[in-house]
Amino acid sequence: MSIDHDSHIHTDPDDISSNTSGNRPFHEVMAARAGRREVVRGGTVVAAAAFLGLAGAVGTTDPAAAGGKGGGHGHWPGKKPLIGFTSVAPSTEDRITVPPGYTAQVLIPWGTPLHRKGPAWRSDASNTAAEQAQQVGSHHDGMHFFPLGKGPLGNRRGLLVLNHEYIDRTMHYTDGDAVMTMEKVDKGLAGHGVTVIEVEQAGGKWRHVDSKFNRRVTGTTPVAFSGPVSARHPALQANNPAMGTLNNCSHGFTPWGTYVACEENWNGYFGTEDPAWTPTVEQARYGVNAAGFGYRWHLADPRFDVAGNPNELNRFGWLVEIDPMNPRSTPVKRTALGRFKHEGATFWESRGRVVVYSGDDQDGDYLYKFVGDRPWRMYRALGRSPLDHGTLYVARFDDDGRGRWLPLAFGRGPLTRANGWRDQADVLLRTRQAADAVGATPLDRPEWVSVNPKNNDVYLTLTNGSGRPGEVNPRTPNPYGHIVRWRERGGDNTATSFDWDIFVLAGDPAYDPQVRLDESNIFGSPDGIWFDGDGRLWIQTDISNSTQNRADRGHENLGNNAMLAADPTTGEIRRFLVGPRGAEITGVVTTPDQRTMFINVQHPGESTTFWGTPTPENPRAVSNWPDFDPAGRPRSATVVIRKVDGGVIGT
Ligand code: FEO
Ligand code: CA
Ligand code: CA
Ligand code: CA
Repeated sequence: MSIDHDSHIHTDPDDISSNTSGNRPFHEVMAARAGRREVVRGGTVVAAAAFLGLAGAVGTTDPAAAGGKGGGHGHWPGKKPLIGFTSVAPSTEDRITVPPGYTAQVLIPWGTPLHRKGPAWRSDASNTAAEQAQQVGSHHDGMHFFPLGKGPLGNRRGLLVLNHEYIDRTMHYTDGDAVMTMEKVDKGLAGHGVTVIEVEQAGGKWRHVDSKFNRRVTGTTPVAFSGPVSARHPALQANNPAMGTLNNCSHGFTPWGTYVACEENWNGYFGTEDPAWTPTVEQARYGVNAAGFGYRWHLADPRFDVAGNPNELNRFGWLVEIDPMNPRSTPVKRTALGRFKHEGATFWESRGRVVVYSGDDQDGDYLYKFVGDRPWRMYRALGRSPLDHGTLYVARFDDDGRGRWLPLAFGRGPLTRANGWRDQADVLLRTRQAADAVGATPLDRPEWVSVNPKNNDVYLTLTNGSGRPGEVNPRTPNPYGHIVRWRERGGDNTATSFDWDIFVLAGDPAYDPQVRLDESNIFGSPDGIWFDGDGRLWIQTDISNSTQNRADRGHENLGNNAMLAADPTTGEIRRFLVGPRGAEITGVVTTPDQRTMFINVQHPGESTTFWGTPTPENPRAVSNWPDFDPAGRPRSATVVIRKVDGGVIGT
């Protein structure tokens, strides 16, 4: 997400903290842990690393620690290295670069008709709202591949389910958005949401196929609510039916085969012209304000007027479960998992119970975990959702490298009636304030989470921050971000305590000598992360467009946004892919055999300080990827990556 409504130069609204809780930020934890780092230098690094079972990459901020550098060293003797490709160089070209021996193919760009007889893409953006609702949405983000058919069949055919995080307010309409109309609101809403589309491999290429599964969920699709905040809750009664999901950033997929879309910067769509309106404490905590992110939808659609229709806000900020195998199913907002700016929803299973990690992506906000209270199969057998029954926790990172999961449960700790909490629904509707109250640790914009399938260690990207230094976040400001990891007590992901450390500090050693990366693997603003089945950690970057490529921001050596692969054991990292201009790289999944990888290129050609600002007259000012149509415009797309020799991606 990178939008700025004032200047058309895009900065992240997530960069601005709305956390006024005074909870102890990481930099204070850092100061307290500094002594521990000295101890680590003094020789106990092995002991400190023991909980992670690692030799090198723990404490890559510490010059004494090994690993973390590129260049191909560091795998165990006699073992085939996890990463086998040649690192690609940083690039500012307007194209996709992949290593020698790999191919990249564009699939389902924005505007692709879902069905053979559907409305064709119009490169001047003159497709109507009704047509957009029958086409692939814009701004592809989190994505999962659901194989169709057993065994090898599922490597060649499946459902791609992907989020459409937002729209570019200039690119989305032929004449831009200077004049706001209901048709433009409707086309905007239809560009958001989720696409379910069947894809198949034929003759070495992938293509989408007309299918009964093909479906759009948009900003106007009817939705249901479950969990403690039910559809009948007074806070959910608004002037229009419950519908739509917005700003679906990353995603999750459940052990029972459904997809979860996450609602991130939903506050930005709302606004008002009412001069008397001021946000409530709760609305301010979620960043709701009169201008929103500049969409101005409220000018044409009273649904988005915060003064006239405030409860519509309460219908957003949730995780949304979608059954891709049932095209007629109603998406369900699972309220037990909390209401905030959900970046993603990473599902894991431990002791038969479902565990869901989710970052709240704003500077100074928190990391959450939901743990089911019984084995998920038991609830499924009873016809009930495992996501309606469990405990939501928020993370506290302690000074000594330990951490605790603090329950957000009505009646426990400070979340009592005496302190103004009404019930569990109230705790969930005001999740951020509940987390403030229990003493969660503010973080530098928590983004994706992924769990190492080899040892259950959990990794979290902290993409960047304005000034919350700490031992897990040792820079003020922290423009490049880093990756934190932890091991839950006893390797049990349902545990309520953990040990944490830093996996890697991103950045450029030319600007920060603490950074232990070189030209083969320097990167900034890690966002997407994902472990493949072999335990390779894929890292995707989202350097904001106000910063990308700029020497005066220390970013001229990093090139365009990229994807890298890391070996979590040795700390080795290599750059695998570089994207086109103005884009971020996001969304990553492979077929079960790992021989096809799907990634997303989001917002190519968006306004950047370095390259310039597109206009309705020249939407190609920054990029014209992927079509390079001289009369067209850049558009988000999925990219299929294959190895020429048919091998496993990353080897
Ligand atoms: Fe949608 Fe936090 O990136
Ligand atoms: Ca982004
Ligand atoms: Ca993201
Ligand atoms: Ca991001």
